[in-house]
Amino acid sequence: MLQERWTAVDGYIGAHLVPTDPVLDAVLRVSADAGLPPISVSPAQGKLLHVLARAQGARSILEIGTLGGYSAIWLGRALPPGGRLMTLEAEPRHAEVARANLARAGLTDVAEVRPGPAQDTLRRLHAAGDGPFDLIFIDADKPGYPDYLSWSLRLSRPGTMIVADNVVRDGAVADSASTDANVLGVRRYIEMMAAEPRISATVIQTVGSKGYDGFALAVVLAGS
Ligand SMILES: C[S@@+](CC[C@H](N)C(=O)[O-])C[C@H]1O[C@@H](n2cnc3c(N)ncnc32)[C@H](O)[C@@H]1O
Repeated sequence: MLQERWTAVDGYIGAHLVPTDPVLDAVLRVSADAGLPPISVSPAQGKLLHVLARAQGARSILEIGTLGGYSAIWLGRALPPGGRLMTLEAEPRHAEVARANLARAGLTDVAEVRPGPAQDTLRRLHAAGDGPFDLIFIDADKPGYPDYLSWSLRLSRPGTMIVADNVVRDGAVADSASTDANVLGVRRYIEMMAAEPRISATVIQTVGSKGYDGFALAVVLAGS
């Protein structure tokens, strides 16, 4: 019942604020046809990422966890001319589908999909002196989140926004007895944010067509 209502409200929000978009519709369809799991952000959440990137004036965006490129397209569309998006994906098949989808969205010149485990790619990016990024979106394996926060901080500047999805997990995040690796990953992530003097952070719980979950939002502070 609750889920029905959340989905209906997402439908209402979508009808008013997230107009039907043939490219994004095709991206979801092609991704499903290719066998990718339906775990991209919702349209309203994609729009949230877009609004945050615009508000941030982001010129360089890093995404960890591409899937079929749905959120990457929302983020890529927020970039000004000359901006760039790098998105990291471990599964070769997902990376291939995402590249085709980014091309479908006309973002080939803006967006780069880096294949391979994000931990390795992040290490290489840092070693190459890449960054800082203006906005970082973390949306890959949850046990990896603590590591992704460490790397994100190294690839940030004061003012960088670090957003992480799926940190509430149907409320399981509040269960200190949980032995679920995903819950342990997001709990550690939140506790790391709490202990990190270089950022100011919060978590916002969300409901909608994707169920009950939440986003962690952090900004890197001046003087960091
Ligand atoms: C939730 S999906 C990303 C959804 C995407 N951000 C969107 O909203 O359209 C998570 C993705 O992270 C990828 N992934 C999982 N572990 C990874 C890792 N260690 N490095 C890079 N990508 C990983 C998965 O293959 C999957 O495609």
